[in-house]
Amino acid sequence: MTKITALLEQMTLEEKIFQLMQLTPNFLSEDDANLTGPLAWMGVTESMVNNVGSVLSAVGAKETIALQKKYMENSRLGIPLLLMADIIHGYRTIFPVTLAIASTWDMELAERSAAIAAKESAVTGIHVTFAPMVDLVRDPRWGRVMESTGEDPFLNSEYARAFVRGFQGDDLAGDMDRVAACVKHFAAYGAAEGGRDYNTVNMSERQLRESYLPAYKAALDEGCEMVMTAFNTVDGIPATGNKWLMRNLLRDEWGFDGMLISDWGAVSEMIPHGVAADGAEAAQKAIEAGVDMEMMTSNYANHLKELVEAGKVDITLIDECVLRVLKLKDKLGLFENPYRAASEEREKEVLLCDEHRAAAREIAAKSCVLLKNEQVLPLRSGQKLALIGPFAESGDILGPWSIWGKQDEAVQLHAGLSARTDLIATAKGCDIDSGSEEQLQEAINAAADADIIVLALGESSEMSGEAGSRGDIRLPQSQLKLIQKLKLLGKPIVVVLFNGRPLDLHGVIEEADALLEAWFPGTEGGNAIADVLFGDVNPSGRLTMSFPYSVGQVPVYYNNYNTGRPLTPQNANERYVSKYLDMPNAPLLPFGYGLSYTSFSYGEVSLSTDELHAEDTLEVSVEVTNTGVVAGGEVVQLYVRDIAGEVVRPLKELKGFRKLQLQPGETEKVTFLITEEQLRYYHTDLQLKSDAGEFHVFVGPNSRDLEAKPFRLVK
Ligand code: BGC
Ligand code: BGC
Repeated sequence: MTKITALLEQMTLEEKIFQLMQLTPNFLSEDDANLTGPLAWMGVTESMVNNVGSVLSAVGAKETIALQKKYMENSRLGIPLLLMADIIHGYRTIFPVTLAIASTWDMELAERSAAIAAKESAVTGIHVTFAPMVDLVRDPRWGRVMESTGEDPFLNSEYARAFVRGFQGDDLAGDMDRVAACVKHFAAYGAAEGGRDYNTVNMSERQLRESYLPAYKAALDEGCEMVMTAFNTVDGIPATGNKWLMRNLLRDEWGFDGMLISDWGAVSEMIPHGVAADGAEAAQKAIEAGVDMEMMTSNYANHLKELVEAGKVDITLIDECVLRVLKLKDKLGLFENPYRAASEEREKEVLLCDEHRAAAREIAAKSCVLLKNEQVLPLRSGQKLALIGPFAESGDILGPWSIWGKQDEAVQLHAGLSARTDLIATAKGCDIDSGSEEQLQEAINAAADADIIVLALGESSEMSGEAGSRGDIRLPQSQLKLIQKLKLLGKPIVVVLFNGRPLDLHGVIEEADALLEAWFPGTEGGNAIADVLFGDVNPSGRLTMSFPYSVGQVPVYYNNYNTGRPLTPQNANERYVSKYLDMPNAPLLPFGYGLSYTSFSYGEVSLSTDELHAEDTLEVSVEVTNTGVVAGGEVVQLYVRDIAGEVVRPLKELKGFRKLQLQPGETEKVTFLITEEQLRYYHTDLQLKSDAGEFHVFVGPNSRDLEAKPFRLVK
């Protein structure tokens, strides 16, 4: 018998059940407000609190050590508390939001950002992070797209692995500077209808398997310790009570044996969803589906005992859950040292140290995507710059998930630019969502003597993130008006955008002479943007989510199907084709898009054979040359299309990419390998198989501007 099973045998039913509960630290505090407040209304008793399995969002070594110490004093069997928190893109040193990190197309950087976030949170006493979020997204109205890596299953899977490696390292038990990862939100939370948060998700199982599931699976293949359920329904049943999803697929088919936690309150939400009449039924459904721990509601704690006693829930179900919780605690070494890496001393050394700031600056600069440049950028010394806009001097550049980051530690754009040049004037011009004539006039005056206007526009962090859905994804009117007014001055305008989602850029992109997408860039934002604007860093970011032409096209994504009546240049004037009467089909800016201060030319794509036999490999090669005068990074992208499948196939599917760094005049040959396995997809029998026949392979700088070559798969 192992130590863990021996422990289980000593636990009372109640002690077991309380291990399956997670609360915030305020529940464990002893002030009177608490006793009459949340504790009372949730039916949380002192005994529950003394035996609760986990706490979320307790941070800071002082607090976590005190909490653990007190808890251990009350714990009859000496079972330590598991501490979890949302360390999404940094703890104190805040990296750019995940969608921005994704724009680097650089797995090493993604991994490094997660490793630093792990270290900073581990020293404060965190054991588990609720990350990575790997939900595939196609709807920029959804505020949580900023937490995702975008719209492509292959790229999302690569990032899922990179983030898990960064958080967990390769020796979670031995390396105290790592934390366990919890992949979320299982499953398909990113497909909420209409982009409205928490809304219904409805799709075929084939689509789920083909597009939405691969990234979660990739995280688990990389060893991710935990999974979090999603708020949404999957085929009519909320994920948190979805037996097919959690037992059949996650546990049986994928063999996941780690801990499964509900999302915040998601067990109780089965009642308003309309699949449980009361808390007891919700608890029963969740435990039958295999949810080990309930986050922030007390249905398990209040009802599992009676359900076991009534013979409705088998005690073995509860034992399985408890074992998984204890196993993770053991794996993290908490039985030997419940404080793990928590240390007030080390916090001082580690949090926001120079090395971490430097990494945040590098990653933020490499996350920037240059969307337009009419020969204005990079800026040159000696130019007179006026900095205008609501983000000129704003610390709200950390993004909505930067809970423990501090806005006053963030380098504002003004500070970053001022470190290189004497700005001739600075003005706000308007607020994020409102403005006055006085503000406008002040901005016009400020810009009067400038050679170039740097205009910092965007969304506040509350405008994206959880519950941050928007039906209109343009910038607010006050900002559109500001750019129109400034345009009348006839001076070049460089727009820097701070935001958490692909925006409808009409009213901005036409007016701007250059447009830099900086996202929510994090703690080193101002410095990183200055690095890019002045050309010390040549922008190499590429979009991982399409920027729609208008919200009316949404969802618009690169890997769509052809339809039976595809729009072509030849039939564009015909009526009966799949198109809009009032806007193009294509997004404004496609997946994979981004400019550079240099230019790249692609040679002809060559294939090693035009017939790929099932056991062989097809080599796809292209020479890429930096044809400009400065060094730069280029992301060479490889896509494939199956011309005739058993079911319809996407027009393009990303199958590979290579990030090159080329000196002026330098040429590099890139060779991609394609095997039969990469051409498989889920057929109607839900088996992964390929089809013999014609395929196209495409290579190019983004998902739109590609050269195609045909080949045949022979089986
Ligand atoms: C979010 C999760 C998060 C959890 C804990 C929920 O509202 O959906 O992503 O991990 O809260 O803070
Ligand atoms: C339409 C049908 C119509 C047919 C003949 C098709 O394009 O989709 O609804 O009956 O033309 O006019």
